[in-house]
Amino acid sequence: MTEKSPAGDVEAGLLAHLNSAGEVSDSRSFASSLGVSHAELEGVIKSLSAFRIVDSTDITKETWVLTEEAKGYAARGSPEAQLVAAIPPEGASKDALKAKLGEAFDVGMKAAARNKWIGFEKGNKDLVLRKVENVKDELQDQLKRLENGEVVPDKVIDDLKRRKLITKEKSIWYSLKKGPEFVIKRKTLATDVTTEHLRSGDWKDLEFKDYNYGAQGQPIAKGYAHPLLEVREEIQNIFIKMGFTEMPTNNFVESSFWNFDALFQPQQHPARDSHDTFFLNAPAATKQLPEDYLEKVKQVHQSGGYGSKGYGYDWKRDEAEKNLLRTHTTAVSTRMLYKLAQEKPFAPKRYYSIDRVFRNEAVDRTHLAEFHQIEGLICDYGLTLGDLIGVLEDFFSSLGMSKLRFKPAYNPYTEPSMEIFSYHDGLKKWVEVGNSGMFRPEMLLPMGLPDGVNVIAWGLSLERPTMILYGIDNIRDLFGPKVDFNLIKSNPLCRLGLQ
Ligand code: PHE
Repeated sequence: MTEKSPAGDVEAGLLAHLNSAGEVSDSRSFASSLGVSHAELEGVIKSLSAFRIVDSTDITKETWVLTEEAKGYAARGSPEAQLVAAIPPEGASKDALKAKLGEAFDVGMKAAARNKWIGFEKGNKDLVLRKVENVKDELQDQLKRLENGEVVPDKVIDDLKRRKLITKEKSIWYSLKKGPEFVIKRKTLATDVTTEHLRSGDWKDLEFKDYNYGAQGQPIAKGYAHPLLEVREEIQNIFIKMGFTEMPTNNFVESSFWNFDALFQPQQHPARDSHDTFFLNAPAATKQLPEDYLEKVKQVHQSGGYGSKGYGYDWKRDEAEKNLLRTHTTAVSTRMLYKLAQEKPFAPKRYYSIDRVFRNEAVDRTHLAEFHQIEGLICDYGLTLGDLIGVLEDFFSSLGMSKLRFKPAYNPYTEPSMEIFSYHDGLKKWVEVGNSGMFRPEMLLPMGLPDGVNVIAWGLSLERPTMILYGIDNIRDLFGPKVDFNLIKSNPLCRLGLQ
């Protein structure tokens, strides 16, 4: 702080006054005696109090202050007085008055009529006549008095409140005394040794400011994990704790064969329509498919086998070769199960994946054309629907969803199939959280998995639990070009829900 700065002057003025008079009873009047705003003096008081150079006591009071509108009336007159003043002896049309008064016109007309200051010409409602010579503008007087801090009767306050011309404001000011560390002029403490100090040699006499070890550091510029990544990691940890191994999901482009046919999904199934699936133009068809297995898949679709009647239609290789952007990660599960079936002897497995899938859907608050799917499966001898329910209860309760309900559903590749619902305490309702089932023998036996081996599996989107956990209700706020980076930066590190 140098002597020349205005704040320095204010500080010097205040300390000199305290030194001679011993106190300041009201910082507001002291500020006006110094010719500075109270806010400026307040800054100086705060700084001096922090060093106990002065002791301050708060004085708080609620006062009525004029609204912007009222300030205009205090300066130029009330709308009703302005209106009367604008009417010439021969009267004026409403339009002319409106043009003159602007916003004050409507209020002015009403109040002036109530006061019987104006009237209308007989038979001509448009011509406004002035009924009084001079008006006494009480409203303006009252507003001016309030502005000057004078006391006005309660009835007037009530009236001004009703007209929304005043609002209550809490003001705070201070009474001041010398503090235990009082000095007439405080010594400026140095915060740094500069080249200037070294050159002039005055570093020898400098007093340095103490380090403030309690001060908060600057926020560090760093990367932030997206909510989807955070939730993905937590779900990965749940799978790993439950003994699952991750499946490789690095191929977004898949053939219809692995995405649909191997899953016993008939070729005329509506989900294969280009309205639901993105097909590739180039390369349009896959080059390689396992021929032996393909033959078995064809047979089971056409005429059944393994205890199934099949679908009884003419299965086409062309259709199976069509490339697409995978519509579910169950395509990956299929590949992995086929691979597992080739390994002899059979060993049970628990697999999971979390990655992107694509659907040709209309984009809205809850749907995007691409999203992330979480998929889990267990392949072992003698698994039952009871095992599936038990595993789902373990999995979802680790996610903080312990109340589950199951509803029978249909998937071409599972039988039985169940939709999974969870009770959401925040939303106070049951919400659908996933889909599940036991893979059909028509899918597993052609792969070469041994008789008696079952697969229980389930899938859900990563977006759904993330939106519930983060309280986001529009998927476009979570994923895509409209995501607000500040939202990602300010996300809490820990949330309730996931344990
Ligand atoms: N593939 C299903 C879907 O996309 C999810 C699912 C996976 C269902 C495994 C049953 C078994 O919704």
